[in-house]
This record gives sequence, C-alpha cells and structure tokens, in this order.
Amino acid sequence: ALPRDLEGRHVVVSAGGTREDLDPVRFLGNRSSGRQGWALARVAAQRGARVTLVAGHTADLGAPAGVDVVAAGTAVAMEAAVRGAAVDADAVVMAAAVADFRPVDTAADKIKRGDAEPAPLRLTQNPDILAGLVADPPRSGQVVVGFAAETGDADGDVLHHGRAKLARKGCDLLVVNAVGDGKAFETTDNAGWLLARDGGEDELPFGSKALLASRIWDAVVPRLR
Ligand code: C5P
Repeated sequence: ALPRDLEGRHVVVSAGGTREDLDPVRFLGNRSSGRQGWALARVAAQRGARVTLVAGHTADLGAPAGVDVVAAGTAVAMEAAVRGAAVDADAVVMAAAVADFRPVDTAADKIKRGDAEPAPLRLTQNPDILAGLVADPPRSGQVVVGFAAETGDADGDVLHHGRAKLARKGCDLLVVNAVGDGKAFETTDNAGWLLARDGGEDELPFGSKALLASRIWDAVVPRLR
C-alpha cells in the first residue's frame, strides 16, 4: 500500500503540451502525451493529497480518479491556471511541456498558400511559468518541481544540461529525462535523474511513469513546510 504522507496537502501538477495557434486550424505544439503528469496526479491522490491537475493537450488518457482537472491549452492560459491553483498549494510540479515561444500574430482566417514566398514566422517569448513560481511564489514556502527533457550523446551531457537548468530556474527539484531511446515523450516508461537545489542527485532507474512519480513525491514530502 502507498503511504498516506500527502494527507491534508494540496498539490498542483501540470501535464501535457501547449498549443500556440497560427490560425484556426494550425498550431505550434510538441509531443508531450501527459502521461508523466497524469501518473504524478494519480499517485499524489492515492497518497492522500488534494490534487489539481492543470492539463494541456494530451493523449486520450481520461480523467484520473479523485483529481480536479483544469484545462489550459496555451502557455498563457496555463500560467494563469497554475498560479490560480497554486495560491493554497503546498507543492507545484511542472511536468507540462510548455512552448517557449508563440506566434506574434494568430491569423483570424486560415493562412492560404500563395504564389509568393511564405512570410517568415514571427515568434515572441512565452512566460516561463516555472521560473515565475520561484521568482514570485503564489504561496511562500511551497515546494516547486521542474522537468527537463534533454538530448545528449552521453548521460554526462544530459546531467550537465540538467544542473545548469536547475541553477537557472531556481526550483527545489528538477527531474531530468534523456529524450529518445523509448524514454520520456510518447512512451509509458521513463528514466533520468532527480536533482535537488541543495545538491542532491539521485538516479531514477528506467521504469513506469507511476514508479517515477512515487520517487518524485518521496523527494517532495520531506521538503514540505
Ligand atoms: O527551459 P525548459 O523548457 O527546458 O524547462 C522545462 C521546465 O520548465 C518544465 O518544468 C516546464 O514545465 C517549465 N516551463 C515553464 N514555462 C515555459 C517553459 C517551460 O514553466 N514557458
């Protein structure tokens, strides 16, 4: 049986990918399935937490039992949803794949193929939700967890990028996944490292996303205020 060590806690988990509209039928998106965030939400509920799952676009996963789901399809919408849910949260886990950029303009009508060269796509930066939670916490003392999907030729490259990202984002914990080889996106399994701001570094062996979720909550619990 799972421990009930999140009893009386409220946790917010973001999951899935954002879509940034180019026109009514096209968007900039990513391959996030939402499965890791779903697993985090499900496991937290099983461990006794009240869970708010801020859901971007995902595979067809159905709603996890006993979890409040808030839909947020774009980075801007997700920022508002996460910050709103986090005002009374003990922990926030940003498992969502948030687009770093969005189109400057969204065409009201479908963009047509013309004879001329296509206009260059102009992009602008989205808010960094995770960095914003650290810089301006909706509630003081909450534990903030980020994710990093990194590519690299060797584990060392991936870890190196992960440590730099942890320092840059300033969150308490960072889950680093190597992308590719049946890991991270569009898969049911995952592996990686759990890096802590206080210097901790644990390997997360290859396993189900539920197992990884348990390991992540194991690291969050002792850090809760
Ligand atoms: O910088 P990068 O996108 O790799 O960072 C990934 C982490 O930052 C994830 O936890 C993701 O949810 C979060 N993120 C965010 N807002 C963005 C981009 C990423 O919160 N605009």
